[in-house]
Amino acid sequence: MRILLTGKNGQLGRCFQDVVAVSAHELFACNSSELDITNADQVAAMVAEVKPDVIVNAAAYTAVDNAEQDQAQAYAVNEQGVANLAKAAEALGVPVIHVSTDYVFDGQAVAPYKPSDETAPQGVYGASKLAGEQALAAICTRYIVLRTAWVFSEYGNNFVKTMLRLGNEREALNVVADQYGCPTYAGDLAKAILQLCDRYQATQELAWGIHHYCGDLPTSWHGFARTIFFKGHQAGLLENIPQLTAISSEQYPTPAKRPEYSVLSTATLEALGVEPSGWLQALDAVMSKLKAHAK
Ligand SMILES: NC(=O)c1ccc[n+]([C@@H]2O[C@H](COP(=O)([O-])OP(=O)(O)OC[C@H]3O[C@@H](n4cnc5c(N)ncnc54)[C@H](OP(=O)(O)O)[C@@H]3O)[C@@H](O)[C@H]2O)c1
Repeated sequence: MRILLTGKNGQLGRCFQDVVAVSAHELFACNSSELDITNADQVAAMVAEVKPDVIVNAAAYTAVDNAEQDQAQAYAVNEQGVANLAKAAEALGVPVIHVSTDYVFDGQAVAPYKPSDETAPQGVYGASKLAGEQALAAICTRYIVLRTAWVFSEYGNNFVKTMLRLGNEREALNVVADQYGCPTYAGDLAKAILQLCDRYQATQELAWGIHHYCGDLPTSWHGFARTIFFKGHQAGLLENIPQLTAISSEQYPTPAKRPEYSVLSTATLEALGVEPSGWLQALDAVMSKLKAHAK
């Protein structure tokens, strides 16, 4: 199957290239200079030229705090960019697999969010991603939205790499302990998308609509940091484990408000045989890759 991938240099984009490389699929992967999804003509021309069987959108404006000041660009990428891809896909008659976020929710739930639960983003990033989901649903007959959360990998910038860097620079760190979510390894998310591509190729069908994909164990940012420090130390990436203090979101103000609780239910994908991200094991594997890279 021919797959067109956008955002190939991001965490998901790079992991998706890794997993497709050992599959039988043919991949056309683009970064933002090869394919700027905000440019409707460029998107239409690329899709018409490549004639993919499916489009995987890993491109997004992901700077959650910057989005508060940079609304126009956040919406240009996360809403208009998705709409451009959706129109081109629909013109060719092919489906889009798109990735969205837990930040479409307000975080007031007391049980894992289901895909059908009411959305109420707390910031511009979440609102722009929700607008992208809605644009896709309005334009495309066949689409999948995978909402994910707290993405980490050996690539790019993420919480794991930030904690390892700060852990090596400082003796003590304060980390927010009243926001709960599910860390997700981008490599597992990439495999889940590939599983959906395989299933679509085999059956020409998928459970179209919104699904949730994230890690199997909820934690707080503080709990995640503690695990990173422990595993980082074990892997030889941290000389000493810094003193870690749990603080509240109020003590760590950020331009964008985050949901307090954004645990996602992955039940609809599990019913299709797609297992959630085993993020603790994935974290070990990421540590090994970072260690090998550091040598
Ligand atoms: N990271 C998280 O914690 C998290 C949490 C929940 C959901 N998500 C969602 O998961 C998906 C993947 O996230 P990620 O962490 O892999 O993101 P990432 O590492 O920030 O990568 C995003 C990529 O999007 C590309 N991009 C930005 N503007 C573009 C444009 N106009 N045209 C084409 N490409 C453009 C960038 O490409 P260039 O580098 O080539 O400019 C970048 O490589 C996104 O949909 C994100 O919203 C992420």
